[in-house]
Amino acid sequence: MTHDFGGAVALVTGGASGIGAATVELLARQGARVVIADVQREAADALAGRLSSEGATVRAVPCDVRDEAAVEAAVRATVAHFGRLDIALNAAGIGGKELRTAEYAEADWARVLDVNLTGVWRCLRHQIPAMLSGGGGVIVNVASVAGLIGFPRHPAYAASKHGVVGLTRTAALEYGKKGVRINALCPGFTHTPMVQGMLDAGMPEAELAARVPVGRLAQASEIAATALWLCSPASSYLHGHALAADGGITAA
Ligand code: NAI
Repeated sequence: MTHDFGGAVALVTGGASGIGAATVELLARQGARVVIADVQREAADALAGRLSSEGATVRAVPCDVRDEAAVEAAVRATVAHFGRLDIALNAAGIGGKELRTAEYAEADWARVLDVNLTGVWRCLRHQIPAMLSGGGGVIVNVASVAGLIGFPRHPAYAASKHGVVGLTRTAALEYGKKGVRINALCPGFTHTPMVQGMLDAGMPEAELAARVPVGRLAQASEIAATALWLCSPASSYLHGHALAADGGITAA
C-alpha cells in the first residue's frame, strides 16, 4: 500500500536499524523528508547516504535519547533544516538483560527504563511543541506486545513498554484537540538485530515462532508498513490507541 507523504517532514529515533530503519525507507520512498536520530552514527549516515543516492531526502543526526539536550537538538535540527515537523516515529529501544524480576540489578533496570520509557517522554517533550507550532502532527511510539501482556525474564522491558502505552494514551488525551495525533505500535517478535541477539544467545527461532499464532516471526518491513499506515492520513481517526502487530499473540 502506498501513501503520499508529499514532502512531509519525519523524525525517526532508532532509525539506523531494524524497525526504525525499515520505516525510514518506506517514508523516504513515499515522499517524506526524513531525519534519522540514532546513537549508531555510522549506520545512520550509511542509510541516509544510500536513500539520498536513490533520490530521497534523508539526513542523519547523532542522538542519544537518554540525553535531553541531544533530543532537543535533533528536533531543532529537523525544524531548522526542513522548516517543520509533521511525523515522529519513536523507535529507539533496547531489550535489556534476560533475568527474572527478583534477579534484576537496579542499574540494569534503570538503563532500560531510561532508554525505552523516559527516552520516549523526552522525545514527546520536544516533538509536541514543534508540531503545535506547525499546526499539528502525528506521533507513533513503538511500544511492544510486551506493553500489553507480561514477558517473563524481561521485567524492565515489559514495564518500560507498558509505560510507553500509558504515556501514549495520556499525551493523546492532552493534545488531540490541538491537532497532534498520537498512537502506540505494539509489534510482536520481529527479525531485527535486537531479536537476533536473543537467537544468538541460544533461543531457537522455532521456539519463538511456536509462541506466535501465525507460526512465524515478522519481517521488519511488515511492522514498518503498519507504522507507515499509523503515520498516514489513512488512519486519521485512530488516536490514543495501542495497535498490536503481533501475529495474533495477544488474541490468546
Ligand atoms: P534494533 O536494535 O534493530 O534497533 C533499535 C535502534 O535503536 C538501533 O538503531 C539503536 O542504535 C537505537 N538506539 C538504542 N538505544 C538508543 C538511544 N539511547 N538513543 C538513540 N537510539 C538508540 O531493534 P528493533 O527490533 O528494530 O527495535 C525497534 C523498537 O521496536 C524498539 O523500541 C523495540 O523495543 C521495539 N520492538 C521490537 C520488537 C522485535 O521483536 N524486534 C518487538 C516489539 C517491539
